[in-house]
Amino acid sequence: METKRLIFEKSEFRNLSQLEKIEEKLAEAGELIRKGEVVAFPTETVYGLGANALDAGACRKIFAIKGRPQDNPLIVHVSSSLEAEIVAADWPEQAYTCARAFWPGPLTMVLPKSAGVPDVISAGLQTIAVRMPSHPIALALIRVSGCPIAAPSANISGKPSPTNGRHVWRDLNGRIPLIIDGGQSQVGLESTVLDLSTDIPTILRPGGVTKEDLEHVLGRIELDKALYEEKENLNPRSPGMKYRHYAPEGIVEIVSEVPQKAAAKISEEVLKYKESDRRIGVLCLEETSQELRDELKQDIDLLYILGSGANLHDAAARLFEGLRLCDENRIEKILVQAMSSQGIGLAFMNRLQKAAGVKTGTEESSRLK
Ligand code: TXA
Ligand code: MG
Repeated sequence: METKRLIFEKSEFRNLSQLEKIEEKLAEAGELIRKGEVVAFPTETVYGLGANALDAGACRKIFAIKGRPQDNPLIVHVSSSLEAEIVAADWPEQAYTCARAFWPGPLTMVLPKSAGVPDVISAGLQTIAVRMPSHPIALALIRVSGCPIAAPSANISGKPSPTNGRHVWRDLNGRIPLIIDGGQSQVGLESTVLDLSTDIPTILRPGGVTKEDLEHVLGRIELDKALYEEKENLNPRSPGMKYRHYAPEGIVEIVSEVPQKAAAKISEEVLKYKESDRRIGVLCLEETSQELRDELKQDIDLLYILGSGANLHDAAARLFEGLRLCDENRIEKILVQAMSSQGIGLAFMNRLQKAAGVKTGTEESSRLK
């Protein structure tokens, strides 16, 4: 299949007032969605692989294209609260509170599912995950399609989620008719998945809206134990979290030392690894990189700066790009500097632990608590 690319410059979607123009440019994309095709599109978190959420056959294609396990449900993306209310059968007060505070934006709510939503999307669960993205192109695509859009991240299953059009192209060229390219995703990590179908709101996947943000509006919330506790005793509420995700080809090792000691630890690891003459990559903060000696830097095959320690949002936005660049540079071992698990750092550390294959129930995984 030939894959077309529809490119948007940033100036074309800087604000919501441009929605009408964006919609015009998306006419063909909307038609593809209505015909039951699958289209990749930008969101503020990561790129999505979308299909008409009311068309079971179209949604089945998503699973096949990604190689996604059938028991991993999809998020339904909406462009209005009316649409959201149709998808979910029941809206507790807390869901309204969250929608007012965080929509459009990187929050996905798990709510009781409406009967009209095909079972393939929820993988047979009685609940449905709903999100209103804030990216103008995503909102416009939903509107021109005239239906809610079911979409997982637009990567081959198991790979890091795509944060720009080039990543999607690498994974899905030839498998879908259209990639809408809107440049770099702003958040760079997926949305927060919050389960509101039970008494205490529970974060099933940390993401763009932080635990602290949610506590601020909801009061008490919980972090799903499946994120850090031994799996045997737990029945994961978010099926997706049980898979090893976000994994590049190289072996990922987390450098958990406090910032003051991170450079020393990285130096030690690089020297050790270089004895075997294999390719090593380092993803670290600007401050840490400045402390690495110049000769040592020459031993590193790919040194990628995640951002400054003063603003972890940059590191979050750049993590997947860094992991993917390591693959492109055939890096065999990837050292990644750990962040604090406060704020957006919690989502960063969760994805990093997954990429490193950290097992739940270990000391390393308990850092998320
Ligand atoms: O930011 C995002 O959420 C991106 C963009 C495209 O919106 N989408 C995304 O989708 O990350 P995906 O499919 O890669 O991840 C969806 C997560 C999975 O962990 C899945 O198991 C969980 O949401 N999920 C979906 N429906 C659920 C449900 N009914 N109950 C619990 N978890 C659910
Ligand atoms: Mg995904």
